[in-house]
Amino acid sequence: MCGISAVVLKNGTVGPILYDSLKRLEYRGYDSVGEAAINGGGIVVKKDRGKIDEVERTLHISDLTGVIGIGHTRWATHGAPSKENAHPHTDCKGQVAVVHNGIIENFMLLRQELEAVGHEFKSRTDTEVVAHLVEENLKSGMGFVEAVRSAANRLTGAYALAFICSLEPDKVVAVRRESPLVIGTGTDGNYCASDVPAFLSRTKLAIHLEEDEMAVLTADHVKLYKVDTGEEISREPFKVDWSVETALKTGYPHFMLKEIHEQPLSVRNALRTHPIYLELMASAINRAKKVFLLACGTSYHACLAAAYAFSNLAKVEVTPVVASEFIDGYGALVDSDTVVLAVSQSGETIDTLSAVRGAKDRGATVLGISNVMGSTLTRLSDVYIGQNSGPEMGVAATKTFTAQVSILAKLALALAKKREVIPQSQSELLENGFNELPDWISTFLSTQERHVKRIAEKYLDRRSFCFLGRGMSVATALEGRLKLLELSYLPAIAYPAGESKHGFISVVEDGYPVIFVAPKDEVYSKIIGNVMEMKARGAKVIGVIDEEDGEISTLSDEKITLPPRIPSLLTPIVYILPLQLFAYYVAVGKGYDPDFPRNLAKSVTVH
Ligand code: AGP
Repeated sequence: MCGISAVVLKNGTVGPILYDSLKRLEYRGYDSVGEAAINGGGIVVKKDRGKIDEVERTLHISDLTGVIGIGHTRWATHGAPSKENAHPHTDCKGQVAVVHNGIIENFMLLRQELEAVGHEFKSRTDTEVVAHLVEENLKSGMGFVEAVRSAANRLTGAYALAFICSLEPDKVVAVRRESPLVIGTGTDGNYCASDVPAFLSRTKLAIHLEEDEMAVLTADHVKLYKVDTGEEISREPFKVDWSVETALKTGYPHFMLKEIHEQPLSVRNALRTHPIYLELMASAINRAKKVFLLACGTSYHACLAAAYAFSNLAKVEVTPVVASEFIDGYGALVDSDTVVLAVSQSGETIDTLSAVRGAKDRGATVLGISNVMGSTLTRLSDVYIGQNSGPEMGVAATKTFTAQVSILAKLALALAKKREVIPQSQSELLENGFNELPDWISTFLSTQERHVKRIAEKYLDRRSFCFLGRGMSVATALEGRLKLLELSYLPAIAYPAGESKHGFISVVEDGYPVIFVAPKDEVYSKIIGNVMEMKARGAKVIGVIDEEDGEISTLSDEKITLPPRIPSLLTPIVYILPLQLFAYYVAVGKGYDPDFPRNLAKSVTVH
């Protein structure tokens, strides 16, 4: 998730306006930044790695002159943060410049095709391909607008793109599929950006660009077209009545709730991980004699879910370990036949990094999954995968958890196929499941949020909760507990349900709330007994269950239902949603700020 911005002014200069708009988009990405403007008949580009203020101090990007320009603030997905990989990207002649938010899935194929006809690439990004595609179309005699439209029709994936071209220096051309893009129509010029905060200080009149549409902005007007046919579209602007603060959260009261609702897209982006990286990781794991999964907090719960998937799907034993315990507990077992797969959204958690360094010192191969390209973990890893979740502002991890579990499930499937231990039917079932995930998530969020809020408000006065699950849902139960505990400061408990008989059950008394995470999977029949044990001692059972559940639903005092027939290995990605919302609404109900809970930091960089 990056922030793109473009401006066409009647008069004045774009540098400071682009700079200001990028500052307002910084929450979308902040590892590199750049601007480009047309002046003196050519395109001037200023870009570098680093936060906006840092790059401004060195390059003075706000000094760019000219009445037309584009800007970008980056959250790296392809190509680690660097000056070369920063946007805007240009073509061979520097006549076309482009900024991009999203993922071009077929960029490798297009790059090979363009290199074969002599194009030279300066970066490792997916985006640069588009500038060269437009250049190729211009060479074949197309005008700028048509060159962009034709290029867009060759792309697969998600993109919001904005282009300028020195051959037609009076217009910005923008195009989108999946990634958001909104137009601002002003009296002093026209604007487009990933989000309205970018131009809210210039105009409150906006037009949303819909799927597969493009816009041509000049200083005086904005025209919209369909990308596939080129047919013109008319659409009236709407008035934005948000403050910038609200706009940053796109109307949600907190970043956490916004990020919970971003999960259909962040999971789709995670599932777009290029097969080449999954293949590299699967090969390393397949060669290894010992495999450890290392992480902390929420990322550790993703590893727990992964361990279940690796053993059940790929028939591979992997050991999930809390990173701060790894070297002391397992260091003696680590050698050159060991693979450690470290998971960290920030990529900077010191306990995880120390465990990784300790493993590296003992000759182990290091694999990494992180949401921050260029983070220390990605630099320590022999192979790494970027989660593509976009920046997560809320301290409580939500969208990064579901992205991690999605990538780890994909990796387990790749490994199972490599080891030829998975029947075709099961592999197809999982592939279909991956495709369904974004819809399952958006269906749940759009139909059940109020219901979860009601249950949270009903149980606000409880001084403790327990989360129980079996099999794959042990990880979900532990993650649900962590969300409630870190946001409501309540001493919540979580257990593998079978284990609850060996201690926890003594805590249960009349009205004690027990949340059962119980999808209709291979361990369903076993958890029914646990529900009855709790009921028998007066517990209030909150069932997080399948829509078509017939048994636990009758035993539940409250029930939250999820779409039916979700493959068990994918259930944590969907069954965590009600638990994220529950924790959020308990925290808000208690008057706490869910974005910045006490005593916690988004990235824990101390031992
Ligand atoms: C989760 O909501 C917390 N923010 C925390 O437990 C977090 O998961 C942990 O600190 C690990 O962070 P990482 O994924 O950035 O390494």
